[in-house]
Amino acid sequence: MNKIIFFGGKGGVGKTTCSYAQAHKFSKLGFRTLLISTDPAHSISDLVSVKIGPKIVNIKDDLDCLEIDSNYESKKYIQAIKKNLGNILSPIILEEINRQLDIAYISPGTQEAALFDKMIEIIIDKNGEYDRIVFDTAPTGHTLRLMSLPELLSSWINSLINNRKKALKIRQMVREDERGNKNIIENDPIIQTLIKRREKILKAREILINKNMLEFIFVLNPEKLAIEETKKALSILQRNKIKTNKIIVNRVLPNIIMDDFWREKKIIEERYLTEIGQVFKKYKIIKIPLQKIDMNSENIDILVDYFI
Ligand SMILES: Nc1ncnc2c1ncn2[C@@H]1O[C@H](COP(=O)(O)OP(=O)(O)OP(=O)(O)O)[C@@H](O)[C@H]1O
Ligand SMILES: [Mg+2]
Repeated sequence: MNKIIFFGGKGGVGKTTCSYAQAHKFSKLGFRTLLISTDPAHSISDLVSVKIGPKIVNIKDDLDCLEIDSNYESKKYIQAIKKNLGNILSPIILEEINRQLDIAYISPGTQEAALFDKMIEIIIDKNGEYDRIVFDTAPTGHTLRLMSLPELLSSWINSLINNRKKALKIRQMVREDERGNKNIIENDPIIQTLIKRREKILKAREILINKNMLEFIFVLNPEKLAIEETKKALSILQRNKIKTNKIIVNRVLPNIIMDDFWREKKIIEERYLTEIGQVFKKYKIIKIPLQKIDMNSENIDILVDYFI
């Protein structure tokens, strides 16, 4: 089993339940485990009935939890950018840029970038402290965008660096005092900041595509729309070179059903399960039965054997 596991899938399919069950299993096996929620809805707190926030909380034995608040991270992220720019730009330009940044703080792109930065920071900082790190992610679209970010950001930053270099060269041609100064590009604070950022993104990319380190487990329910969505999501993850070997089909109806309504539902479900078996035959498919009760930290042991 890899060290870092991401659980993803559509809204309500059982991502939080599965990530908690997996993290609980790891801790039972004696691995020091950190369970992290990146979902703005934060249901790990509900599941364990303990308020979890941006600081690590010990839940039991070897299991710690943490919830990342993208709002809070976004605010911190913008403040850090303002501080960086404050050292570089003139006060007049800065005032206008600060106004723009205040607007940027509420945009989804900034929240994702901030969330992504935080996730990478945790992976890098906590790597030595924990044997296993499990991520409970937000519903599909949001998470997939997050996983594709390093690819997008690195080409964007490369073009920013090139533009800045061009601008500096033109300035150098115009300004006499800068002519012949070979270090003008190397010493430029904007280029230095961009290069640092690029290094961080490349590091993130390295972690994401390291097949011995990170894997993504997709959770779905045996329903019509789920199959198409899962196909698309898995192909996006593969395109981004993220390891996906396993899927979880959660809430599978029991085999013995007395009632006509549920018998019919089970027949339909069987068709979907067959289709899932065919469409995803490359993957290890784990089926988790629907339980009578909602899952919480008290009864999660029922599900633990489905996880390794
Ligand atoms: N196998 C199961 N049997 C019975 N109930 C389940 C099962 N798996 C999950 N549930 C219940 O379904 C509900 C939704 O599960 P969960 O919160 O894990 O989904 P989620 O994918 O994290 O949702 P969201 O997208 O809102 O974050 C919860 O009440 C949970 O207890
Ligand atoms: Mg959830």
